[in-house]
Amino acid sequence: MTSTPTECRSRRLNVALGERSYPICIGPDQLGRAEPLRDWLPGNQALVVTNDTVADLYLDPVLTSLEGLHADALILPDGEAHKTVASCERIWDRLLQRRFERSCTVIALGGGVIGDLAGFAAAAYQRGVAFVQIPTTLLAQVDSSVGGKTGVNHPRGKNMIGAFHQPRGVIADTDVLATLPARELSAGLAEVIKYGLIRDPDFFVWLEDNLEALLARDTGALADTIERSCANKADVVAADEREQGVRATLNLGHTFGHAIETATGYSSWLHGEAVAAGMAMAAHLSADLGWLSEEEHHRVTALLRRAGLPLTPPQSMTPTQFLEIMAVDKKAQQGRIRLVLQQGIGRAIVTDSVPAERLRATLNHFTGGA
Ligand code: NAD
Ligand code: GLY
Repeated sequence: MTSTPTECRSRRLNVALGERSYPICIGPDQLGRAEPLRDWLPGNQALVVTNDTVADLYLDPVLTSLEGLHADALILPDGEAHKTVASCERIWDRLLQRRFERSCTVIALGGGVIGDLAGFAAAAYQRGVAFVQIPTTLLAQVDSSVGGKTGVNHPRGKNMIGAFHQPRGVIADTDVLATLPARELSAGLAEVIKYGLIRDPDFFVWLEDNLEALLARDTGALADTIERSCANKADVVAADEREQGVRATLNLGHTFGHAIETATGYSSWLHGEAVAAGMAMAAHLSADLGWLSEEEHHRVTALLRRAGLPLTPPQSMTPTQFLEIMAVDKKAQQGRIRLVLQQGIGRAIVTDSVPAERLRATLNHFTGGA
């Protein structure tokens, strides 16, 4: 993991993946600039995929930066409910309609929904074309734009259809966070807190000390947070790109969280909110197993609460519903649910050996049983 000033006019990190290595540029005033974006395009055809909310705010400067190229834009409806194969088909239709060739580039401009969707469309179009991420939410800047996981949801399971497809580069322009709704900022903080919990205890302490600055959108604190988060993610991805081992720890809170998103039809809960409730559930179970002290457990829930995040799942969910949905989690092996749990703050483990009655007790605790 390196951090050096460069032509990015910003802080620059490198995701070290051999010939598929790529830069992450973090800082203000990047949209609308031709470089480094144009350096990353293998040809002169580029399709910007975005949604109606983000297009109104940021599509013009991105198209300006592509002036003189054969560039087009596809504006999809906003929302997790549109992270579907049907939306991918709209991208493929446009690429074919405009006769985009193998040397074309798909540029994702938006949050994690657009990034995952456009990335999957790029992975499958003509068996894989170039892809660039311009993440515009905190969550996408600290997590989803980095690491090459792309995909769409299925009614039976979150992110169940997808591919690994690394971007050519990531431009995280911190200026765009000024327009992000407060609820979305909090959702992004859930994934930020996750890095402290799974592998960076000093960062967790830093977050305890600086949370108010982040909620007030202090630009320096936000840039530091994005850089530290991306550095953590890049290290994990470089060590285990295809999730054969340590990468699974990035899913702390996600097995419970994905169950919440699936049960609620990908509509009312934000991904980061579901992850936050999931991390609170994972912390409870970890404490119950004696892996997290009561003091540490309290620190976890206190920080999530201060970030404005939910600590409990919807009360309409039952333990049985959780167990049924969690059984189709991508981490499940031979039908056994695998969970990411904590052993102290800053250490996570992946386990399939939690006694069924302890898991059931945590689900009962959070749902009122039945
Ligand atoms: P999102 O993409 O739905 O964006 C949240 C909302 O903010 C949307 O309404 C969007 O239009 C709006 N928005 C985006 N940028 C804005 C801006 N600058 N100003 C104002 N509004 C803006 O949600 P998200 O939280 O960014 O991403 C969640 C998705 O990311 C989920 O589908 C999740 O599964 C996925 N994800 C993927 C990975 C990965 O590794 N691929 C990791 C984490 C999450
Ligand atoms: N957000 C989980 C991962 O990228 O592996």
